[in-house]
Amino acid sequence: MTGTTVAVALLALAAAATLVFLLRGGRRPSADVPPVMRPSFSDDQLERRVLERYMAWGLVLTGFFALFLPGYFLQESHRLNEETDSFFVESVVRGEETFTTFCAECHGAEGQGGAAPSPYGNESWPAPNLTTIAVRYEDNENIADIEEFVRTTIEQGRPGTPMPTWGAAYDGPLDDQQVTDIVNWILANQVADQAQPTAAAGQSGEQLFMANCAKCHGERLQGVVGPPLNDELERHTRKTILGILQNGIYVPTGTPMPPWQAGYTYEGARYTDGALRRIIDYVESRQTGGGSDEVVAATWRDR
Ligand code: HEC
Ligand code: HEC
Repeated sequence: MTGTTVAVALLALAAAATLVFLLRGGRRPSADVPPVMRPSFSDDQLERRVLERYMAWGLVLTGFFALFLPGYFLQESHRLNEETDSFFVESVVRGEETFTTFCAECHGAEGQGGAAPSPYGNESWPAPNLTTIAVRYEDNENIADIEEFVRTTIEQGRPGTPMPTWGAAYDGPLDDQQVTDIVNWILANQVADQAQPTAAAGQSGEQLFMANCAKCHGERLQGVVGPPLNDELERHTRKTILGILQNGIYVPTGTPMPPWQAGYTYEGARYTDGALRRIIDYVESRQTGGGSDEVVAATWRDR
């Protein structure tokens, strides 16, 4: 940057000097003689020496611009990149502050994940680790653009879960810039470790269901923020259900069904087909044929 400033200053100086030189035209000022009558160049001089001098200077200037302008132009994209980088860094710094103020209480000071009070009872509801979003959603076919996904989730929240709505467009407390800052902070803080699917050998289908599914689908499969599952086998085959569990259902405008295999370790869990089949066994064993009238189910039906 200082290099450019010096170059521009030199250029301006050179231009000013040239102008003065040209205007003076090599004439010697003399006090008593009026300008028109002052001795000047002869025609001979004008056509040779002076003309050649003008042309030489013209050549020098042309050469200077021919080198300077492309050089300046080539530097331009580099300069722009530096500007953009510094904007990004400033945004990330602001994002961290905003995150600490609004999000850390649930997602942890470093975004490593934490817990929130459940809206449906005394148990807590896991708030996901936000530093593993990139790896978790990397191969999720429902999500094309992770940045867009993170932004949408923050702006809209996840209705029916403790994740609040933040975007001003949805009556949340944060303006677009604040959301962008947090998104930048989250993206700048992604770590690489990737949880492998676990067979969860020691756990029964019921235990897995209670640990992972009950908070959204209800302990009696009656439905909470997710739909009732007590008639699920009437609606879908086991094969379809396995696909749903593997990949989840991405609902851009609301609370998604988390994928339990395709890059979404909801509260760190990522299960093999075997473990998911045990969960389906349990769901199958609890079919009562039809949704329930329980009040908690209202959350799902109201959507
Ligand atoms: C009151 C607690 C709470 C607060 C405050 C909160 N969140 Fe969340 N957030 C959650 C919970 C709980 C979930 C998981 C919802 C679910 O079960 O799908 C979540 C989910 C998310 C997700 C999706 C993560 C994933 O892996 O799918 C993102 C991104 C997120 N929150 C960002 C934020 C940001 C940014 C803020 C601050 C502006 C914030 N949250 C504030 C509780 C909270
Ligand atoms: C964060 C809340 C949440 C969690 C946790 C969750 N689900 Fe879901 N689930 C949903 C939502 C919401 C839907 C409906 C998505 C939609 O709008 O299509 C759904 C849909 C489903 C469906 C498809 C229902 C249908 O008939 O369309 C099945 C099956 C299902 N979930 C099973 C499970 C199982 C099994 C678990 C645990 C391994 C689980 N879910 C964990 C929220 C959740």
